[in-house]
Amino acid sequence: MPNLVAYSVHGQVAVLTIENPPVNALSPGVPEGISEGLKAANWDPAIQAIVLIGGGRTFIAGADIREFEKIHAGQGGSLASVLTCIADLDASGKPVVAAIHGTAFGGGLEVAMACSYRVAATSAQVGQPEVKLGIIPGGEGTQRLPRLAGVGKALDMCCFGEPVSAPDAYQAGIVDDLIEGDLLAGAVAFAERIAALPVPRASQRQDRLGTAEANATLFAEFRAAANKRLRGQQAPHAAIEAIQAATELPFAEGCAKEAEIFDRCLHADQSKALVHAFFGERAVAKIPFLAKDTPVLPIKRAAVIGAGTMGGGIAMVYANAGIPVILKETTQEALDRGVATIARNYANSVKRGRFSQAFVEERLKLIHPQLDYYNFGEVDIVVEAVFENMELKKHIFADVDKFAKSDCILASNTSTLNIDEIASVTSRPDCVVGHHFFSPANVMRLLEIVRGKATNATVLATSMDLARRLKKVGVLAGNCRGFIGNRMFFPYCREAIFLVEEGNTPEEVDRALYEWGMAMGPLAVQDLAGLDVGWRIRKEYQHLEQPGVRYPELDTLLCERGHYGQKTGAGFFLYDEHRKPSPNPEVIALAQEYAAKAGIPQRKSTPEQIVERCLRALFDEGKQLLAEGIALRSVDIDIVYISGYGFPAWRGGPMKYAELVGWK
Ligand code: NAI
Repeated sequence: MPNLVAYSVHGQVAVLTIENPPVNALSPGVPEGISEGLKAANWDPAIQAIVLIGGGRTFIAGADIREFEKIHAGQGGSLASVLTCIADLDASGKPVVAAIHGTAFGGGLEVAMACSYRVAATSAQVGQPEVKLGIIPGGEGTQRLPRLAGVGKALDMCCFGEPVSAPDAYQAGIVDDLIEGDLLAGAVAFAERIAALPVPRASQRQDRLGTAEANATLFAEFRAAANKRLRGQQAPHAAIEAIQAATELPFAEGCAKEAEIFDRCLHADQSKALVHAFFGERAVAKIPFLAKDTPVLPIKRAAVIGAGTMGGGIAMVYANAGIPVILKETTQEALDRGVATIARNYANSVKRGRFSQAFVEERLKLIHPQLDYYNFGEVDIVVEAVFENMELKKHIFADVDKFAKSDCILASNTSTLNIDEIASVTSRPDCVVGHHFFSPANVMRLLEIVRGKATNATVLATSMDLARRLKKVGVLAGNCRGFIGNRMFFPYCREAIFLVEEGNTPEEVDRALYEWGMAMGPLAVQDLAGLDVGWRIRKEYQHLEQPGVRYPELDTLLCERGHYGQKTGAGFFLYDEHRKPSPNPEVIALAQEYAAKAGIPQRKSTPEQIVERCLRALFDEGKQLLAEGIALRSVDIDIVYISGYGFPAWRGGPMKYAELVGWK
């Protein structure tokens, strides 16, 4: 095993420098190297104190997540050497100063907390983000953090996993000093100052552990907050349990309890799902058939056609990434409406503290509203987001083809239409691609990149790179009706409607899936998107419906009565002026009447049956997409659903979930 920790001597201070680029993760070789360095420094009588610092751009950014993946796959993987290293740090006879820059997350912070002192660059961040992988800190972090920072701060950091800035960590008592300027020099000077003092150990502190009464209130508050913010997830509750142990048990027993809880979480499906999602986001960015040296075009200027719901949002996405963007409409009225919506959305972001006023003003200057094709010859990409109508889209692509420069990417935001047919009206079908954003485009992270039969490699590589620049998760999809996401969404919604036609109420169906973990029930989603959208699509494709196959009717019946969902105040649910839903009795009556006429047997399904039926429809369509090559890998499908359809990451996505529950 390589020793990834360098040893050097600065006067009477030994410096251990972790050299495991890029982020100094605790891979095999790092904890062993720290233990060895400690031994050498403790043995050398000339050394008075020790500094532990990260080489390169950061302290230890965290555990090596690949080790978790190995454990999940039953392929070895172990955190034993990390625990030994932490015990060695805690036992060091000479004081150890952790010098933190960049990030000290997870195992990184746990190593730092086992040191005698911590100093940090003011720009550094610390945190215990394990909950995001479905686990709790497993390197005694749940036992040391409350001893350093108090129970409330430890609960906040371990339950929600958000990073804490160095000044905040200093205030909280996690960090003992902030260092301006050269971190190593500052840390060595600090080490010299404390060298003669008795060595403090976080494990021996009791003074910040609070009273039983105050802690009971905190635990209850954080349980309630976790149920709200991380609905359905076990890890935040496991973290509370471990921190509770820190307040009730001696240190060593608390650590044993943490180890037991950590193990339980690590082997649970939620952790397998979240680790899968974590690596999945990275995996989808790799397109196996694209050569590494495929050129990526610089996208410096963009144009969006259509300033409606999607076009306005897409223009904001470009502006937020600092890319100037033309926003083209047909009428002044539609343009003004689109620009007003953008301004309102930005104003809300300022109100909610997401952006500063100055940032928003800069972004607004990057958006150029206009009614003609002026300057279209200058842009590197055009994104079309007009009505979902093939003739209109063809007309626009033929126009754009005349004005755009020869290597300009022509992208359509269509949600269902055939990219090849759109491309056929241009002189450069190889430059045409689908860029399918999700509503609201400035919020939802998914960008489906739809590959037409002629789309060239440069356009695909540029699209994947652009997704990253736009802070989206780009997933490549083949060209078919609905691509990956919407094609799977149709059968999922179909089952939800069937369930209502069979006598379940819309509330029962939506509640079952919501409680299972979906961000929204499928019927409420359809009400939000507009039932008329599906109705129009259905009419367009009616000729493809096969005799003897059951299709959902209830949504059509609602549309025929003018109930399009939220926009008309009624759909599967009724909506008041604040869009608050309530049951729509007309739905039940319509369903019963239709079921009687069509001879659909009435049966109530349990919540478990509802969930299984809808999710199996997702899974089955997903398998079909893989068989057809529309989705490259099952992980692409999972990431589409997690980042675009409110599928809970802790369930892993439709395909991972099916694997975890053993569906074939
Ligand atoms: P929308 O109706 O809100 O906006 C369409 C806009 O295009 C209107 O403002 C209209 O004036 C404008 N327009 C029409 N013809 C034009 C032309 N020749 N030149 C310039 N502008 C023109 O529609 P929405 O919802 O924004 O949808 C746009 C596209 O995005 C559709 O293809 C839709 O399928 C797709 N999409 C919609 C999603 C949604 O949730 N609404 C999600 C993902 C994709």
